[in-house]
Amino acid sequence: VPTQLSDYRPYPFALTETRLDVTLAAEASSILAELDFSRRAPGALVLDIGKAVDLRRLAIDGAELDAAQWRRDGEILRIDAPAEGSFTLSSEVVVNPSANTAFEGLYLSGGIFCTQCEAEGFRHITPYPDRPDVMAPFRVTLRADLPVLLSNGNPVSAGDGVAVWHDPWPKPAYLFALVAGDLRAVSGQFTTASGRDVALNVWVRPGDESRADYALESLIRSMEWDEKVYGREYDLDLFNIVAVDDFNMGAMENKGLNIFNSKLVLASPDTATDADYERIEGVIAHEYFHNWTGNRITCRDWFQLCLKEGLTVFRDQQFTADMRSAAVKRIEDVLTLRARQFREDQGPLAHPVRPDSYVEINNFYTATVYEKGAEVIGMLKLLVGDEGYDKALGLYFDRHDGDAATIEDWLKVFEDATGRDLSQFKRWYTDAGTPVVTMTEDWQDGHLTLRFAQSTPPTPGQDDKPPRVIPIAVGLISPNGDEVVPTTVLEMTEAEQEFSFDGLAARPVVSALRGFSAPVMLDRQMDATTRAFLLSHDTDPFARWEAGRQLARETLLAMLRGESPGAEYLDAIGQLLADEAADPAFLALCLRLPSEEEIATVQAQGGTTPDPDAIHAAREALATEIARRHEAALEAVYARMEVSAPYRPDADQSGRRSLRLAALALLNRIDGGRRAAALFAEAGNMTERAGALGLMIQAGDAQQALSEFHREFSGVRLVIDKWFMLQPLHAEPDQAVAVAQHLAARDDFDWKNPNRFRALIGGLTANHAGFHAADGTGYDFLADWLLKMDAVNPQIAARMSAAFESWTRYDADRRKHAEAALDRILSAPALSRNLGEMIGRIRNAT
Ligand code: ARG
Ligand code: ZN
Repeated sequence: VPTQLSDYRPYPFALTETRLDVTLAAEASSILAELDFSRRAPGALVLDIGKAVDLRRLAIDGAELDAAQWRRDGEILRIDAPAEGSFTLSSEVVVNPSANTAFEGLYLSGGIFCTQCEAEGFRHITPYPDRPDVMAPFRVTLRADLPVLLSNGNPVSAGDGVAVWHDPWPKPAYLFALVAGDLRAVSGQFTTASGRDVALNVWVRPGDESRADYALESLIRSMEWDEKVYGREYDLDLFNIVAVDDFNMGAMENKGLNIFNSKLVLASPDTATDADYERIEGVIAHEYFHNWTGNRITCRDWFQLCLKEGLTVFRDQQFTADMRSAAVKRIEDVLTLRARQFREDQGPLAHPVRPDSYVEINNFYTATVYEKGAEVIGMLKLLVGDEGYDKALGLYFDRHDGDAATIEDWLKVFEDATGRDLSQFKRWYTDAGTPVVTMTEDWQDGHLTLRFAQSTPPTPGQDDKPPRVIPIAVGLISPNGDEVVPTTVLEMTEAEQEFSFDGLAARPVVSALRGFSAPVMLDRQMDATTRAFLLSHDTDPFARWEAGRQLARETLLAMLRGESPGAEYLDAIGQLLADEAADPAFLALCLRLPSEEEIATVQAQGGTTPDPDAIHAAREALATEIARRHEAALEAVYARMEVSAPYRPDADQSGRRSLRLAALALLNRIDGGRRAAALFAEAGNMTERAGALGLMIQAGDAQQALSEFHREFSGVRLVIDKWFMLQPLHAEPDQAVAVAQHLAARDDFDWKNPNRFRALIGGLTANHAGFHAADGTGYDFLADWLLKMDAVNPQIAARMSAAFESWTRYDADRRKHAEAALDRILSAPALSRNLGEMIGRIRNAT
């Protein structure tokens, strides 16, 4: 049965303190809990309890409860509680961390005890009101004969196999964490603006210390930035980060004790790419920023997840824009949004930024909640202005510190701070789907009229979509390339609306949706010459890039209709390559061709059934054509972008490397992999080695390089993950499934490790034509592995199942194969709630 937003009821008890006494042992850890409750309203005492928790004892105020005083029903524990006043509930349970392969609750990763409690993992550790609106200070005693024993908050005492921790900040159970094992700290220190000294530690396994510096530096930059930009200071004496190898997601913001997937902590130039470094910096910041947006102010219930995630993603995007290039970051974010969130919005998994119903909450940690949630905040900021935004955020922190809040609370602070009515804007939270905005122009004697129309296609359960508030940033550029009207934000509120500009000397070119001012699809007719004009003259970097992207898309679509690539696009590439003054990272983004998946999406939207093999062939042909036409210019860029200084993962150097690799990717089509092989042999950093290796696989001559690479890095799990990923990803489509099958049979395909599983299976599903093989073998392979994983780790299986979400847009044969694979999963016995919900929604697509 789904949980509904409208079912929310406040908890009838306050929890004034939570005390835990945990004795850790691999197979039988015991947890004693004392919960100080005081009654606030009539109602039963209902706790959550995981199925595998062995409940040994329950007592109220020291008096043991007999069987008649409580009832355990599935994951619910009902207890007869005093009708009024305060009491202490004690419980004693035993759990088995070594049998916990789902990595939810208390588990072991490479000999380290650790926890993951968001969203509903704490119930697998101890019976508890496991809901975010029940908050309490925690006092935790840890017992184990292990060198490092960590929990939330500040240390009270430590020594001889016992450590006591106290977290004074009331928090919900999902922010609880403990870690115990043989760990080494890479340490630093930070003094907050008001003078609090904070000890910083990044905890890693012995031997990994040399790869933890960048995480620590990123943490310090995040702490400085949040003080400077949001006025938010840290609030404990200690901030710990722990890296573990087995982790379902990226990282977790547990109060004062963030736990990370090691791939988002560990980095050295020879093992991590520039992209890895950028993600580490961004995720360290994200988890740190949660201390205010998530922890000090949390969510009332899980429907409000975007309250903390959308806002925290928005904040980490702002941070990265400040640390690196704002223009490049914006383009990267839009690329991800379109690839993941637009795709989600257009398929059977579409849901609002704030969903109103779910079966399994872990299935809603989605691109819609996170990335679209961040876009919605970006629109709010644009509508109320920077000052209005600062005022509203100030009010949010003042008014709601210590609260478990809602989207209504969030919107109210903007209304109160700025006087704006946000009732129509709220639809961005409640209505799913990506609006399509069409724009047409009318020009008459110095007078320009822009006409907009918006409509949002139906999504599951929502047929009718009233118009939304859409901020459309536009600028006007004169035919000689001058900006005659700088960026202006038009506020669209109606289904159809027009805006006029007067006193123009000549008909300008309209630059629309600058900075991607709203997460919509802009539909406008524009010829290739005008797009090329914007690509070279627009003052807004996003809009410039977008013009080039559209040109590339349309070129590919034309090729799929049997035409040959137009001169406008090929000439524009020549101009970009000759532009020595441009930011290399920006040029690299302009040179990269739209993905095959993107072309399939565009075709499906336009009512054409995409043919994955044809799309692959067209993209190859275009890349080859560009390389032939511009070989000399590409070679010049390749030579010019070589970095001779010692490796640094900063924006400048990584921009140069990304342009260099983008040029190499094109040259690779005509040199049989010769240059890539040379780079692979001489490069001293992982960015260029992995980049070159991918291109060698594409060129069909990588066997020796692959064995060399494997030999060299056999002890470095995160690098071997790359090895598993690159092969299915870059394989020729007709070989990709066979490559994946072959790799899956290897001894070192340690599939229970989420990173390893995602590397191989995700590498295949990201190979568009390979995964969508006409014979259905890609679908069968995925189905087999989802079933196998589901019995071990349902969260990972459910997340990976989204690779099926676009199955209905392909041809009848492919659909038949996909349908059979989906039905096979659905009919499997003992399907988890996670995978069952996902496949059920995907299968029901019409
Ligand atoms: N709150 C974490 C983050 O975004 C994500 C953890 C989600 N984990 C889960 N199993 N659903 O930073
Ligand atoms: Zn988050």
